[in-house]
Amino acid sequence: MASRSSDLPAFTESTFQYTQPPNPSFKFGQKVDATPEGKAWADGEKEGWKVIETDKEDPMKLYPLMISAITPRPVAFVSTISDTGVENLGLMSWFNMVTAYPALISISVAIVNNKVKDTTRNILATKEFTVNIISVPWIDNANACSIDAPADVSEWALSGLTKAPSVHVKPPRVKESAFSMECELFQTIDITHPESGVKSTTLILGRVKYIHAWRYPLRFIGRGFPHSTTFLGGGR
Ligand SMILES: Cc1cc2nc3c(=O)[nH]c(=O)nc-3n(C[C@H](O)[C@H](O)[C@H](O)COP(=O)(O)O)c2cc1C
Repeated sequence: MASRSSDLPAFTESTFQYTQPPNPSFKFGQKVDATPEGKAWADGEKEGWKVIETDKEDPMKLYPLMISAITPRPVAFVSTISDTGVENLGLMSWFNMVTAYPALISISVAIVNNKVKDTTRNILATKEFTVNIISVPWIDNANACSIDAPADVSEWALSGLTKAPSVHVKPPRVKESAFSMECELFQTIDITHPESGVKSTTLILGRVKYIHAWRYPLRFIGRGFPHSTTFLGGGR
């Protein structure tokens, strides 16, 4: 998501359209430098390679390196409720679909200085959450929820977004989202660094029990969605 800076150009919308593949005359086995574009790409190697041994790299450098290179990533907008009833919204870009049978998604939530984030604590306590796909017109509303609010402060009011009831789980879904998934906790995996023993992350698998989807974009399933503001998820 864009950082706020008046020095940056204004947001411009890109629209979706089907095009030919970048190299429509590709034949099996053809070398990358067979086209002018491929040749220009291959020239990028001229400055040489840097090999990074992750175990020897500063983790503070590995993080920006990996999140910059492993893109695009969708962003899960996760709604949870604590065991005492406090509602929470959190953004997680370590997010993806795992399989459709059963319908399963994954989010990875960091543990910072031994502190588990509200999202993880709530999911472990209640075994329920919703994941809401973000669209461009309300991307800033969602981004407002990335602040480190105290556990007893709900991000809903800060976001300006609307709670809509779920049918199967307690945490509400985001009414403005064109695609929301009601999830039950399926499995968690604690990620512990093999050498340092630091418990750094919780990988959370959620079983999608109900999907709430706008009817309009469903018409385009399998054909691509027509307009990014209509449906495409905010991503990183
Ligand atoms: C676009 C974006 C993506 C993020 N992705 C993640 C992520 O995948 N995992 C994570 O632990 N934190 C992620 N964060 C940071 C959390 O959103 C942030 O720590 C938030 O305060 C967590 O909320 P919680 O404490 O209410 O659970 C992301 C933040 C932004 C803005």
